[in-house]
Amino acid sequence: MRTISRRVAGFGTTIFVEINNLALQHGAVNLGQGAPDFDGPPEVLGAAVKAINSALNQYAPGIGLLAAREAIAQHAERFYGQKLNPQSEVLVTAGATEGVFAAILGLTDPGDEVIVFEPVYDTYVPDMVMAGVTPRYVPLRGDDWTFDPDELAKAFNPRSRAIIVNTPHNPTGKVYSRAELQAIAALCEKHDVIAITDEVYEHILYDDAIHTRLATLPGMQDRTVTISTLGKTFSVTGWKIGWALGSAALVNAVNQAHQFITYAVASPLQAAATTALNLPAEFFENLQKSFQAKRDVIFNALKNAGFKVFKPQGSYFIMVDWRGVAPKRVEDDVQFAQWLIREVGVACIPPSAFYQESDKHLGKFLARFAVCKKDETLAEAAERLAKLGKY
Ligand SMILES: Cc1ncc(COP(=O)(O)O)c(C=O)c1O
Repeated sequence: MRTISRRVAGFGTTIFVEINNLALQHGAVNLGQGAPDFDGPPEVLGAAVKAINSALNQYAPGIGLLAAREAIAQHAERFYGQKLNPQSEVLVTAGATEGVFAAILGLTDPGDEVIVFEPVYDTYVPDMVMAGVTPRYVPLRGDDWTFDPDELAKAFNPRSRAIIVNTPHNPTGKVYSRAELQAIAALCEKHDVIAITDEVYEHILYDDAIHTRLATLPGMQDRTVTISTLGKTFSVTGWKIGWALGSAALVNAVNQAHQFITYAVASPLQAAATTALNLPAEFFENLQKSFQAKRDVIFNALKNAGFKVFKPQGSYFIMVDWRGVAPKRVEDDVQFAQWLIREVGVACIPPSAFYQESDKHLGKFLARFAVCKKDETLAEAAERLAKLGKY
C-alpha cells in the first residue's frame, strides 16, 4: 500500500520542529518561531470571549462575517486609501497561509509559472507543487536584499501567471521600496500577470520605513490580490484569521478554491477581528514603538556579539551572517542553530529552508532571529548572546 502521495512526499519535515525540540531540551531562549510569547490586546481577546458567550458559534458565511469584511475594508481605506466593497472584494480566510494557497489554486492552472523572490516564505512553493504550478525564483541579494531588475524581467515569460511579493519580508526584514514595487507593477502590466501580495507584517515597521501596498500603485488595483492577517499585528497567531482583498473577479476566483478548502472561518474570532481592526491609531503607534525597542535590543546584542547584522526595516525578524562568531567546526546554518542552542542557550532558525535545493548554499552562513518576544525574554537572550565574545 502506498501511504503517501507523490504530491506531498517530497515536502520532507520542517527543520523548525527539530530546532524547537532542541531549544526545549536545552532550555534555550527561543528566538526561532515567529509567534509572540505575549498575548494580544485584552479588548480583542475579550471580544472573542463575548462572541462565544453570545452564541456566535455556528458557521459564518463562507466569504466571512459581514461585520468582519466591513472592518477589513475600513482598515484598508484607513491605512492605504484603498476602497473595497465588503460584499464582493473582501474574503476572510484561515490565516494568510490559506489565503495564499487559495489564491494560487484559484488563479493559476497546472503548467503555469509563479514568480517568487528568494529567500521565499516556506509555504509558497509547497502550495505551488500542490497546484501543479512551477515556481520561478528571483534572488534577493546584497546587504539590502534587493533584486536585479534585469533578472526579474527575464523571469517573466508567456507561462508566468502570477508573482508573489511578501513585504515586509520574512526572513530578511526587507520592506520593498516604492520604486521596486513600481518595477514589479510595470512587468505585471506588460506581461498581464497577477500580483499576490503577502503583507502580514504591514504594521511591523522600523525606523522611517514606509509600507507601500502594491495594489494601490497605478494599474495594480485590478491585478493584485492583497493578503494579510490578524495574527501578527494583534499578537494572535493562533487565531488564523486572514483575508484576501482585490477586484470582485479576483476575489471570486480565490473564493472558488477557499469554499472547498475551509468553507468558513471561526465565527467568534471573526467577530473579534472587527474590534481589533477598529482599534484607535494609538494602538498601531504603540505597536510600532514597542517593536522598534524589541528590534533595537536584539539588533545591538547581535552586533555586539560580532555578527554581521542585516538591519531589518520591518517584520518580526533579524537576519545575520554568523561567520565571524561561530568556531570553524560549525559548517552550515543548521549546525550553527544547533551550536547556538547548545553553547549559548539561544535558538534561531536556519534560513536554508527558505531557499530551493540548488540555492541552499545562499542560506548557509545565515541565521534568523525573531524579536516578537517579551522584553524580559529579549533581555535574557541579549545577556546570553553577550557571552559569545569568548568564541
Ligand atoms: C510571510 C508570512 N506569511 C504568512 C504567515 C502566516 O500567516 P497566518 O498565520 O495568518 O496564516 C507568516 C507567519 O509566519 C509569514 O511570515
